[in-house]
Amino acid sequence: MAKRNLISVIDMKDEWPDLVELAIKLKAERGNHNAPLKGKSLGMIFEKPSTRTRISFDVAITELGGHAVYLDESKMQMGVHSETMEDTARVMSRFVHGIMYRAFDYKMMDKLGEWASVPVISGLDNLEHPCQALADMVTIKEKLGGFRGKKLVYLGDGNNVCNSLLYACAIMGIDMVACCPAVRMPNAEIMWNATKIAEANGSQIIASHEPEKACVDADVLYTDTWISMGDKTPEEEAIKLFKPYQINDNLLKIAKPTCIVMHCLPAHRGQEITNEVIEGPHSVVFDQAENRLHAQKAVLYTLMKD
Ligand code: CP
Ligand code: NVA
Repeated sequence: MAKRNLISVIDMKDEWPDLVELAIKLKAERGNHNAPLKGKSLGMIFEKPSTRTRISFDVAITELGGHAVYLDESKMQMGVHSETMEDTARVMSRFVHGIMYRAFDYKMMDKLGEWASVPVISGLDNLEHPCQALADMVTIKEKLGGFRGKKLVYLGDGNNVCNSLLYACAIMGIDMVACCPAVRMPNAEIMWNATKIAEANGSQIIASHEPEKACVDADVLYTDTWISMGDKTPEEEAIKLFKPYQINDNLLKIAKPTCIVMHCLPAHRGQEITNEVIEGPHSVVFDQAENRLHAQKAVLYTLMKD
C-alpha cells in the first residue's frame, strides 16, 4: 500500500472517527500493547521547542514496541550546512519507518511529505497542528460523550491550532465558532473548506469577533497562546488586540454550566486564560495533554504498522 502522510487533518479525513476510537481503545489498553511496531523507528525533526509533542511521540512509539530518534534541526546537516529537504527526505527514508516533523514553514513540511518514501506526520507547522486536534477530539469524546450538536468556541489567535480544529470539528460534526480579531482570523482557505465539510455534515462553522455573543451555550471554550512560535508580534500589541478574547470567569458564565475549558498548552496565565479558569473545575487541560500520547499511538499504528 502507498505510504500516507498526516500533514493536514484533511489527509486522514475519512479515517478521523476511527483514529479517535483507536486512541480511546489504546488508552484503555495502556501497558498491554502487543508491540505492534516492534523494530520500527521514528525520526523526529524539531525546528522549534516542544514538551508535549516530543515526549508523547517518543513514549508512544516506545510503548508500541518501536524506537524514536530525536533530531534537532539546528544540529543536522540540513540546518547547519543547508542540505536540501529533498536529500534529507530520501536519506532519512533509508533509515527510519516514519518521520515526525515540527517545522516553521508548511512548504518545507510539504516538501518532506513529497520526497520521503515513509509516512510524514506533522508535529506542527505555521498552518496546522493535526495531532493536537486529534487529541482534542479524544478529550471531547471522553468529557462530553460525543460530538454532534456540541458547540466549541475557539477564542484568540486564528493560528495553526485553530486551523486544525476547524477541520476536525467539521469532520466530527461539532459546531465551531472561530472567535478571533478581524486581523487574526484563521487561514481563509481552511475556513472555507471546513465550512463546506461542516455543511455536508449537518453542522456549522462560523466566524465571530464578539466573544460575549459567541460563548452563549458553548459546550467547549478553547484557547491558545496569542503569540505562536516564530510570530514576531510585540507582546504589548498582542495583549491589546486579544484581551477581549481572554477566557475568564465572565466568559465562562455565558457558556453552558457544564462547559469544559481546553488549551493545547503551553499556557500564559493572565493572557489568553486566567489562572482561576485554568485551575478551576471546568478545565480539562491536563487530561487533554495526556491524550496527546494516546492520539499519537493511534496515528503511528495506523500509518506505520505492516
Ligand atoms: N501542545 C503542544 O504541541 O505542546 P508542545 O509545544 O510542548 O509540543
Ligand atoms: N500555536 C502555538 C501552538 C504551540 C503548541 C504555536 O505554534 O506556537
